[in-house]
Amino acid sequence: MQKIVIANWKMNFPHEVYHEIKNSNIDTANLIICPPQAYLSQISAEVGTHVKLASQNVTHLSEKNGAFTGEVSAVMLKNLACDFCLVGHSERRIFLNETNADIKQKISHLHQQNITAILCIGETLAEKNNGQSHLVLTKQLKECLPLSASNHNTIIAYEPVWSIGTSICASTTEISEAFDFISAILIKEFELNLDLVYGGSVSPSSFTEMISIEKLKGILVGSAGLKLDILKELLKIVENKL
Ligand code: 13P
Repeated sequence: MQKIVIANWKMNFPHEVYHEIKNSNIDTANLIICPPQAYLSQISAEVGTHVKLASQNVTHLSEKNGAFTGEVSAVMLKNLACDFCLVGHSERRIFLNETNADIKQKISHLHQQNITAILCIGETLAEKNNGQSHLVLTKQLKECLPLSASNHNTIIAYEPVWSIGTSICASTTEISEAFDFISAILIKEFELNLDLVYGGSVSPSSFTEMISIEKLKGILVGSAGLKLDILKELLKIVENKL
């Protein structure tokens, strides 16, 4: 099974990385990039045919259009050739008070447009330390996944909040354990077998270790996707060149 690297650029534009993608100096077969929405139109026009695009967000307010200042709809993303969209990232849950109900609505809109939702779930450090990780993951899955979810249109990204941007990557054991738990919930509650990716302070060395996890479909990276040499290393690991 070929793994994927999803690069969430957050509110950054890595010019060097983009230059290399644009000039086909990076093998993009296993890469999905998530640029800021302000650049989606330009990037879609320039490289949309040779790299898969994900939006970092979509509105929950309407699938199509309406009087919703500052929002971008699933239809608009589809028109930009975005085949993927991140949903429920912890930064949006924390800084923008995004709720599980909003997230479920967003995923429904995406599915209507045949856009694959990459649903981010994960526990905070306090929840981890209080032994609540399983409870949190179960609640997020149960409250965020609409009935339309299938293995063709939904990917689960396990992104423990305590690991994002901290340089503390979850261990292979922690990731395997979380994946086993998430898979069991998905089967029990939804009869679904969804692809699972891991995100949180992934580096080439931690990726090399975790790549052996059978259930791991890929990684969702933040800072590693902004640095050309590191991104290239991650892609080489996928291609088994390292
Ligand atoms: P870092 O790789 O910078 O920890 O960010 C992970 C992330 O939030 C990806 O969505």
